[in-house]
Amino acid sequence: MTLNEKIEKALKSYIPPENVYVQKLYDAMEYSLVAGGKRIRPLLVLEFCRLCGGDIEDAMPFACAVEMIHTYSLIHDDLPCMDNDDYRRGKPSNHKVFGEDIALLAGDALQALAFKTATSHITDKNASRVARAVNNLAYYCGAEGMVGGQVIDLESEGKNVGIERLREMDRKKTGAIIKSACEMGCIIAGADENKIENARCFGENIGLAFQIKDDILDVTAEQEKLGKPVGSDLENEKSTYVSLLGIEKCSELVQSLTQEALKNLESFDGDSETLRKLALSLAEREY
Ligand code: IPE
Ligand code: IPE
Ligand code: MG
Ligand code: MG
Ligand code: MG
Repeated sequence: MTLNEKIEKALKSYIPPENVYVQKLYDAMEYSLVAGGKRIRPLLVLEFCRLCGGDIEDAMPFACAVEMIHTYSLIHDDLPCMDNDDYRRGKPSNHKVFGEDIALLAGDALQALAFKTATSHITDKNASRVARAVNNLAYYCGAEGMVGGQVIDLESEGKNVGIERLREMDRKKTGAIIKSACEMGCIIAGADENKIENARCFGENIGLAFQIKDDILDVTAEQEKLGKPVGSDLENEKSTYVSLLGIEKCSELVQSLTQEALKNLESFDGDSETLRKLALSLAEREY
């Protein structure tokens, strides 16, 4: 089984069993969670765990947890009160199928399921690593991380904002969860502080590159390939790196941030070739 197949199988295993009274909620959660998606964040958890000498099986609950958080953030991001997008991961958005009320609650429930999943294999032996990883995820997905970044995003609509604010917005709304994925992989493997710090810098660099590339694709990609609407940022008068600096300068930034990220990998003694390739492929991606 490939790593991606293992992730898909593990994700499915955490969806609650059938329940006649709440089935609509469970269906909504499953609809978005198993809808595809590149699974970048779980791959980062598993690959950093492996790079630091850990067992990827120990990291799998965290790989699934981070994807649940990410999926919840996408369901909410698409709601009419946010980006109002009707298409996601190649299918109608969650609220188009289940309604806004259930979509909101499916997001809420996926967030809770993430923390349940992360702690599902806790033992006396791994308790301190699990606690640190959960604390890390909670920090990066909340007000000081992803949710805070989404607020900056909404409050920047239709305004002329500077590069510093955009950087903070992207670091938080997208970079934070990516950083958490990298750090959690190291934490679960029992890596030292120096390695965790290098993983954080790698996540910081590819996280920012990832959002700038996402903003480029919103202009240049085809909807069929992207699996979500193109031109959404323009329609919502979003302030992005692309709206401020233009495509060409942004493409250069993606390249330079990716090169910085590759340098961050050099301090690890293990084989970081897979992460190297992943970082490079994200910079070149077409969806
Ligand atoms: C989309 O993330 C939202 C951003 C943070 C830019 P991805 O591009 O990783 O979306 P999926 O998971 O592949 O659908
Ligand atoms: C999304 O940014 C960030 C989060 C969902 C946290 P975008 O709004 O640009 O993501 P897409 O383009 O809709 O996937
Ligand atoms: Mg958004
Ligand atoms: Mg959006
Ligand atoms: Mg986008």
